[in-house]
Amino acid sequence: MSLQNPVFIPGPTNIPEAIRKACDMPTIDHRSPLFATILHPAIDGCRKVLKTTEGELFIFPASGTGGWEAALSNTLNPGDTVLAARNGMFSHKWIDMCRRFGLNVTQVDVPWGEGLPVAKFGEILRADTSGTIKAVLATHNETATGVVSDISGLRRAMDDADHGALLLVDGVSSIGSMDFQFDAWGVDVAVAGSQKGFMLPAGLAIACFSAKAVAASRTATLPRTFWSIDDMRKGYAANAYPYTPAVGLLNGLKLSTEMLLAEGLDQVYARHARIADGVRAAVAAWGMAPCAATPDLYSNTVTAIRTPEGFDATTIVERAAQDYGMAFGTGLGDVAGKVFRIGHLGMLTDAMALSGIATAEMVMVDLGLPVTLGSGVAAAQSVYRRGRPRATELAA
Ligand SMILES: Cc1ncc(COP(=O)(O)O)c(C=O)c1O
Repeated sequence: MSLQNPVFIPGPTNIPEAIRKACDMPTIDHRSPLFATILHPAIDGCRKVLKTTEGELFIFPASGTGGWEAALSNTLNPGDTVLAARNGMFSHKWIDMCRRFGLNVTQVDVPWGEGLPVAKFGEILRADTSGTIKAVLATHNETATGVVSDISGLRRAMDDADHGALLLVDGVSSIGSMDFQFDAWGVDVAVAGSQKGFMLPAGLAIACFSAKAVAASRTATLPRTFWSIDDMRKGYAANAYPYTPAVGLLNGLKLSTEMLLAEGLDQVYARHARIADGVRAAVAAWGMAPCAATPDLYSNTVTAIRTPEGFDATTIVERAAQDYGMAFGTGLGDVAGKVFRIGHLGMLTDAMALSGIATAEMVMVDLGLPVTLGSGVAAAQSVYRRGRPRATELAA
């Protein structure tokens, strides 16, 4: 593996030099006014990225999985019922965590490559007249399949069903790269991780709670210590944590949110959409298709690419690492060996994306797949070319 090449795994993502430097700082007292000048701007910056003025946001020294645990343990009681769809590895793992917590899961199985079944969820919620379901879990962007789900549509379905369940959303591979509207979509808990759209190393779980979720936390009895938002709130009030915070990462997060906001969230989303369009154009030129079933489900942060029947897609990832020092994502769970993934999120430019597309193409030709050298690159170039009017510019 070459340290010179960008990575094309769907997180951890490439880290801008300035953020790496911001993370690398001398020890400071983590209960001091100096720490406050890192902590509070990092929290405020994240709230802006999540588009919330109402949510209360907490940052745990953890990965995204910890954010899931914070969402569940602060809002639910043992034996509570939650509604969730299993449409990929990450929704699968969150469901597994629910079961380990002793929650009842009403699980809707969805073919991998499909999105969250909003209409079906609406039906289930309408039928739940006694309000047994306490929370609806939604994975905004299923990183295993490159499928995005409609969270605002889900909120409408919950409202139409007049159901009071909490809406808990995994935004680990969408937040900071694709539009996410905590307030406008009526999200009750949103979870993100530092190592994807925020362009940091892994190590911070970001969890934002609505007033309704905070109210639920006052009576929720699932056990929690490390994940307690009550303890965290008390810590923050004293410019501290209930334990030792990851100060360097928080300093990096402060800078990361400044960078995202300086670029402009709409520009960040447009950049991700353009890069993703180029990757998808390359995939089509290779005669392949995304795992995502229909274009409305296409993720702008990761594309899972179906390889021809009988071919082990994992060999592409292995050979890319071995022969070209470049990292792509393997297929996970039900689609292991059937897809390989190109992550295209975080610090990425058109030119960087072209290097990944070119390398994937070389590997596939090396492996004897019926791909023409240069075909994917040319297709992506035609999307990235500056001379070409772009949809976002035409709309402006
Ligand atoms: C959508 C999604 N949710 C949750 C996770 C788990 O996050 P972590 O690996 O940071 O614990 C991931 C990791 O890739 C993810 O992509």
